[in-house]
Amino acid sequence: MIWFELNGRRVEYAGDEGRPLLEFLREEMGLASPKDGCSGQGACGACLVELNGRPALACVTQMKKIAGGRVLTLEGLPDGLRRTLGRAFVDKGAVQCGFCTPGFLMRAKILLQENPRPSREQIVAALKPNLCRCTGYVKIVEAIEHA
Ligand code: FES
Ligand code: FES
Repeated sequence: MIWFELNGRRVEYAGDEGRPLLEFLREEMGLASPKDGCSGQGACGACLVELNGRPALACVTQMKKIAGGRVLTLEGLPDGLRRTLGRAFVDKGAVQCGFCTPGFLMRAKILLQENPRPSREQIVAALKPNLCRCTGYVKIVEAIEHA
């Protein structure tokens, strides 16, 4: 049995400790924001969540790794923060199909809490692990600057 905090709530888990966190979040907790964009290869960033204040790819994070930890998904962000980030992405046209967007929003959230006024170069560097097939990235960078 392990326990951890998920979006501010204590959760107990007694299943397979090698199970990917992404599968647990989507299939057991009904949290749809973390996406599976690369079949668990840790290659796209669509499943990005915050684990103990740091970015973590939920598809390659086993349940045993989160024991006693704090996991935050987009659903757990304070409303005002989620609205601010989301509005910036919409205003700058940084959302097309939207599949990658939750991962980018979580990446932006973690970047901005560490560095509230990142330079364009710092934003580009922070976004490197996240893939988007639609936008060409420029608008996503602009959205984060805007936020
Ligand atoms: Fe986790 Fe692609 S689904 S990195
Ligand atoms: Fe479609 Fe990024 S908006 S993959």
